[in-house]
Amino acid sequence: MAESQTAELMDKIVSLCKRKGFIFQSSEIYGGINGFWDYGPLGVELRKNIRDCWWNDMVRQRDDVVGLESSIIMHPKVWEASGHVGGFTDPMVDCKVSKQRFRADQVFFAPVVVDGQVAGYVSALESERIAGELQEKAETLKRKKAIQGKLEPVQPRDFTEAKPDEIPLVPSPATGEPGSLTPPRAFNMMFETYVGALRDESAVAYLRPETAQGMFADFKAVLDTGRVKIPFGIAQIGKSFRNEITPRNFIFRSREFEQMEMEYFISDEDDWAKWHRYWIDWCRNWLISVGVSASELSEYDHPKEKLAFYSKGTTDIMFRYPFGVQELWGIAARGDYDLSQHAKASGIPMIYFDEATKRRYTPHVIEPAVGVDRIALAVLCSAYCEDQAPDEKGNLETRVVLRLHPRIAPIKAAVFPLLKNKPALVEKAKAVRDLLRPYLTVFYDEAGAIGRRYRRQDEVGTPFCITIDFDTLGEKGPELQDTVTLRERDSMKQERVKISDLVGLLLPKIR
Ligand code: GAP
Repeated sequence: MAESQTAELMDKIVSLCKRKGFIFQSSEIYGGINGFWDYGPLGVELRKNIRDCWWNDMVRQRDDVVGLESSIIMHPKVWEASGHVGGFTDPMVDCKVSKQRFRADQVFFAPVVVDGQVAGYVSALESERIAGELQEKAETLKRKKAIQGKLEPVQPRDFTEAKPDEIPLVPSPATGEPGSLTPPRAFNMMFETYVGALRDESAVAYLRPETAQGMFADFKAVLDTGRVKIPFGIAQIGKSFRNEITPRNFIFRSREFEQMEMEYFISDEDDWAKWHRYWIDWCRNWLISVGVSASELSEYDHPKEKLAFYSKGTTDIMFRYPFGVQELWGIAARGDYDLSQHAKASGIPMIYFDEATKRRYTPHVIEPAVGVDRIALAVLCSAYCEDQAPDEKGNLETRVVLRLHPRIAPIKAAVFPLLKNKPALVEKAKAVRDLLRPYLTVFYDEAGAIGRRYRRQDEVGTPFCITIDFDTLGEKGPELQDTVTLRERDSMKQERVKISDLVGLLLPKIR
C-alpha cells in the first residue's frame, strides 16, 4: 500500500474508534496526556473479549497452565534482581534547539556520498520507507549544494550507531539542521512512586514494567500448591507501565498498557527449541482464531549477537500495521535466568524436585508475552473494510464495516423492531432482546430507518442483526408467526428463523 493510503487507513481507524466509542485520548478535556488512552463503551467490550478468549484458551482449556494475579507494585528488590532497575533502558537523544526528545534507535541517518566523498548527512524518523526517504533527502542535499558527480545509494544506520565525530554532523529530525543532537544516553523507563508516608529513597517503589516478574517471584508459592508438574505454565493478564520516550502510533506504544504473559517452565534437559517453536505456532494460530489477518503476520528471529547473554532465542510475531511491520507478540526462551536471579537475591531456592528421577534443578522458561492493546489494534486493522451496499432506494453506497471475528465483536447481535411506533413490534423486539441477553451481548435499537440501523451495526462490527416485523406478529399467517429476519454482517444475507431457534443458532457462531 502507498504511504498516503496507509496513513489514511490509520486516520480512518482512529476516527472510527473515537466516533463510535472504542478508544478516546485520556484526559482529553484537559488537552490529553501523551501515551495514555481510555477505552469507551465498545472498546471495553472488545478488550474484555480479547482477554477472555486468551484466558479461556491459554488457561481454562489446558491442564498445564494455571493463572495468577500478582500486585502491580512489588518489592523493589524484585526489579533489582530482574535487572530492570539497572538496565531497563532505551537510548534517548535530545534536540537542544527544538527541545524534542527521540529514541535514538528510531532516528535514522546516513552520510551523503558523492564520488566517494561525504558531502553531508541526512536523517529521518523510523518509518516503513526509511531508505527511500533518506535517498530523496540525499538527492535534495546534493542538488542544493550543486555538487556534480555520482550519488551513492544511502546506507541508513540508527543513531545509536553514530560515531562520536558523526554526531555533530547529523541533522536533527526536528529542525533539519545539524549540530543540535546530543549523544545517545540510557533512559530508564520505570515509573517510580513512594510507598507509605515517607518520601525518601527507602520508600521508592516501581509500577511494574511487565507482568512476568510476578510469575517468577511467585514460582515457589504456585509450586507449593501441588497443582503443577513440569512442564507447566503460569499465566497472568494485567496492566504494565513504561515511561516510553516516544509513545506513538495510537495504542501501539503507550505508557500504560495491558499485557498477557505466560511463563512456561520446562526441564533444564528438555529440548527448549521444540517448546519455543510450539509456543510460536500456538500464538500465531490464536491470533488468527480471533480475527487477525494471517496474511499480515510474519516472524522475526532476533539475531544471536543482539540477544541478552542468558537468552537462547527470541522470535517476534510481527503484524503489518498501517504504519509498518511491527512486533505484536514476543516469544522468548529465557533459560533459567529469572529464577536463578530471584533465588540469588532472595536466598529462597527456586528449585524443582522431579519425583520420577529424584533430580533437583532450576527450570528453564519459554515466555510468550503480548499486549492486549496491540492485539486490539491488529484486529481493528484486519477488520476495517469499505465495500458497496444498496441504500434504502437500491442505490449503491459505500459501507464501512468492521469484519470483527464474532468471538471478539463487542455486540454479538442487534435487535430491531421494524417500526418504533407500533407497540406490538416494540414489545416483541424487547422480548427477543430479553431472551438473548443471558447468552450474548445484545443491543436494542429502534431509531431511524432499518437500513441506517444495519449500517450503524456494520460499522461497529456486530455480526448479526435481528429484525422483528409484521410477519413475526403473524399478520401474514401462522407459518411465519414468531419468526424473525436474521441478517449476517459480512454477506448481508438474510434468512427467516424461528425465535425459539435463535439461541441455538447464534451460540456456536460466536464461541
Ligand atoms: N516480559 C517480557 C516483555 O515484557 P516486551 O517485548 O517488552 O517483553 C511484551 O513486551 C509485549 O508487550 C510486546 O510484544 C507488546 O505486545 C507489548 N508491549 C510492550 N511495550 C508496549 C507499549 N509501550 N505499549 C503497548 N504494548 C506494549
